[in-house]
Amino acid sequence: MPEPLLQMTAVTKSFGGNCVLSAIDISLWPHEVHALVGENGAGKSTLMKILNGVYTMDSGEILLAGAELRITGPHDARQAGISMIFQEQILANDLTVAENIFLGMEPTRPSGLLDNRRLNQQAQEILERHHFPLLAGTRVSRLTRAEKQLVEIARALATAARVIVMDEPTAVLSQKESEELFRIIAELKAKGLAIVYISHRMEELELLADRVTILRDGKRVFTGAKSEIDQQGIIRHMVGRDIHELYPELPAPAAETVLEVRGLTCSGEYRDISFELHRGEILGLAGLVGAGRTAVARGIFGLDPPSSGSISLRGKPVGFRSTSDSIAAGIGYLTEDRKAIGILPDLAVTENISIAALDSMSNGPVLNLSDEARRCADLVKKLNIKARSSSMPIGRLSGGNQQKALLARWLFAGSTILLLDEPTQGVDLGTRAEIYLLMKEIVASGGSILMISSDLPELLGMSHRIGVMRRGQLVTMLPAAGATQEQVMQYAA
Ligand SMILES: Nc1ncnc2c1ncn2[C@@H]1O[C@H](COP(=O)(O)OP(=O)(O)OP(=O)(O)O)[C@@H](O)[C@H]1O
Ligand SMILES: [Mg+2]
Repeated sequence: MPEPLLQMTAVTKSFGGNCVLSAIDISLWPHEVHALVGENGAGKSTLMKILNGVYTMDSGEILLAGAELRITGPHDARQAGISMIFQEQILANDLTVAENIFLGMEPTRPSGLLDNRRLNQQAQEILERHHFPLLAGTRVSRLTRAEKQLVEIARALATAARVIVMDEPTAVLSQKESEELFRIIAELKAKGLAIVYISHRMEELELLADRVTILRDGKRVFTGAKSEIDQQGIIRHMVGRDIHELYPELPAPAAETVLEVRGLTCSGEYRDISFELHRGEILGLAGLVGAGRTAVARGIFGLDPPSSGSISLRGKPVGFRSTSDSIAAGIGYLTEDRKAIGILPDLAVTENISIAALDSMSNGPVLNLSDEARRCADLVKKLNIKARSSSMPIGRLSGGNQQKALLARWLFAGSTILLLDEPTQGVDLGTRAEIYLLMKEIVASGGSILMISSDLPELLGMSHRIGVMRRGQLVTMLPAAGATQEQVMQYAA
């Protein structure tokens, strides 16, 4: 009788008296991709961090090939051939790509000293084997978020022997890089590894999963073969209701131009970018990772001022030298890099939400705290932000809930032009539907949105027009109605 490669039984975990996993069973077989799904905060990452020695369980058991496996720290997991690509990147920014890949298990010379040449060589081999366009000697701080993700993947691949956990690995990757990852997954599976795949993207589950486990509020509500359950079934188990129309019908934009960008250039990042954003419009920005989309948004927002070109707001030339200028002018920027420049992890959820509006509030005669608290509470409810209390540090929220709180920040600030960079990255399906409705409300009430997204269905479903960037240039602007994913990809690649 064949037995599972790995079994977790009756795993239970609480944080500060709050039970987040109750008696979870999951078994992993060789040659399988096991999808682990559930809403934001359901307990997916926590369960897998227990398997990887980041957290210890309160009770439960882990068996590897039938024998009890004690995991008291990350080292034990790695020794057992278990590795994980974390949802929140854990790389050391000051070290090189190679040093990060082998952190904690660097090759040494007989003398015990670090063998740098071998380190670089081995790292470069891994990168090349997987077609990752990176140099082993590059310092990680110089990489984009997507490139860092490739390093995370390489790091996990360097040790994975039996089980590899991927916690939303494609959240920051574009289509092309995702496809490369899917190819790697197929290879690992053929070699007999078990892969735990966490994702909120249904298309990916459809494509990859052999079996599915669904968590809801820390409990396991379904395990079975992918073929036994359809998408609506998965959604019903996760969310507790059906979702048929993910993308709402958008009202037509007005003719009035609110933001005009002409010949915007930032050397090495993008050049000669020109477009207009209309009142009530959602303009989607497509492109591969590295095409320069984020740099353009940062340029407009005043994070990295462009070297030439012009930006006008409702006909008036502006050029933001700092973000406090752009925020005061009604612009909000939802970053794709919530860990590095988004959240203030030790501050409360409420403080994280109200921070961009503080200037405008204290300009009034009195700082109205109860009003602030009420508006925050409204947004927390509307976006379904799951936090034990709003005064809890935002860093303790699950990834998707942090994302929602960042979006709430700009809604709270009342920004009329929103630059949204991967707005639904890591957000569960039910909440995604809520965010789309909110975006519709924003444009219906006269706001405008520039949305960068690597999720093509989202771009097609939630934009009026789609601009496609390739290697720093805006190569086309298409009406979203009637456009296809293939068309967009053709321009982007
Ligand atoms: N270090 C911690 N301290 C306190 N609470 C925590 C901690 N880590 C996680 N939690 C709580 O545990 C619960 C489960 O979080 P977890 O990160 O496992 O969710 P998830 O299913 O991975 O969600 P997402 O899809 O948003 O990533 C959440 O309520 C979260 O706030
Ligand atoms: Mg998670």
